Amino acid sequence: MLKTFAVIGDPIHHSMSPNIHNAAFRELGMESTYIAYRVPTDQLEEGIESLKRIGISGFNVTIPHKTSVMKFLDKTDQNCSLVGAANTITNYSGTLKGYNTDMDGFLAPIIRKGIGVAGRSVMLLGAGGAARAIVAGFARQGAASITIANRTVEKARKLCVFAERLGMRAVAASLASVPSPSEYDFIVNSTSIGMAGQETPVDTSQIRSDSVVYDIVYAPMKTSLIAGAKRRGAMIIFGYEMLLGQAALAFEIWHGRKAPYDAMKRALLGAGT
Ligand code: ATR
Repeated sequence: MLKTFAVIGDPIHHSMSPNIHNAAFRELGMESTYIAYRVPTDQLEEGIESLKRIGISGFNVTIPHKTSVMKFLDKTDQNCSLVGAANTITNYSGTLKGYNTDMDGFLAPIIRKGIGVAGRSVMLLGAGGAARAIVAGFARQGAASITIANRTVEKARKLCVFAERLGMRAVAASLASVPSPSEYDFIVNSTSIGMAGQETPVDTSQIRSDSVVYDIVYAPMKTSLIAGAKRRGAMIIFGYEMLLGQAALAFEIWHGRKAPYDAMKRALLGAGT
């Protein structure tokens, strides 16, 4: 049976999700299709109604709807409640269930590479929706402490309260005075800095070679933080690895079978599909 899936957000034209999921369908010979659908901020309710009308089987949700979509869902999983947002929805006969794959998608490459998190220290740039899922992920893996640096320090302070509730020591900082990266085992960027080639506020010359540097920005792939980390010989995790981790998890939620990771990766990196 032909099933239709979608990603909703605004803007949405740059989304790589249709390429990734359609490549997976082709690889497995599945009769399904995945489309991008622009839904402006004030039209979420109508957008969801029209998806239900066409009998959508499932959809991803991205900026700016990840939090506001929650009130239109009939059910949510544990991660949605923890993070306060949903990014993957199933539709069974008009009943919508929300999942949040941000946390597990973020952790996927860390776990796949066998990198230990327990007892480690983290510096996280950013305090938005993605940052909240990342904090929950580090807490779940047993990280000891986290420093959260954000342009708006008040938001970093609020996220620190959340981190402490989950059992980590937490300190808030300003992006204008980011501590030296030499103090941290993990350095993670969850802000949009680096998207348009902006310089990272991290003094990359102080990154240790035994630290892990993870930038969730995936376009461009080589942000100034990643380039600096590479020069220092640190272990690098690219933003596309989180994106693929999330896409694979959404695939498994919707189709109940293992995602064809390599075909999805080829579609994303443009190595031919
Ligand atoms: P997401 O769901 O991707 O996390 P978000 O919730 O809008 O998106 O969060 C965006 C994050 O990037 C925030 O930490 C934001 O900082 P503020 O809290 O101060 O707004 C950060 N950010 C976005 N643009 C930025 C910029 N030009 N410089 C520094 N930080 C920026």
